[in-house]
Amino acid sequence: MTRGCLLIVLFLPFVSYAQADSGFAVDPERGRIVATVRCMQCHHLSTLSRSIGPGLKGVYGRAPTISGVPFAVWDEAALDAWLTDPRAVKANTRMQLPPIVARDRADIIAWFKSEREK
Ligand code: HEC
Repeated sequence: MTRGCLLIVLFLPFVSYAQADSGFAVDPERGRIVATVRCMQCHHLSTLSRSIGPGLKGVYGRAPTISGVPFAVWDEAALDAWLTDPRAVKANTRMQLPPIVARDRADIIAWFKSEREK
């Protein structure tokens, strides 16, 4: 085996891993579980009543109830920006949480969306 061939063999797993990671299929059911683990400590997910943060029932497609965010509605782009880094959207927000990876954000948003469409 030439050295070039060996390099390709060594790098292939990384290439396929990267593809699998960016090409994930969005899964609302998985999103429900991730949201239960990551959001329910501060939010009611199936009512509008306030916990530490506002109730998130029907959040997809509705206007924010909080002040200071530059969005007219919580759509995919708004939710993704908010969940990526709440403080980048609103510097003094009280919503603070460890980073949520892209796949988890996409699944959570897909679940909100599917709840809205019910
Ligand atoms: C540590 C507590 C905490 C966690 C965990 C948390 N949030 Fe929040 N969230 C808040 C607080 C507090 C606010 C109000 C922020 C403000 O007024 O600036 C908020 C606001 C929001 C809003 C705005 C709602 C509206 O009615 O405008 C959304 C959407 C939201 N959070 C989604 C989420 C999601 C989805 C998760 C889970 C991935 C999550 N939050 C996890 C505390 C939290």
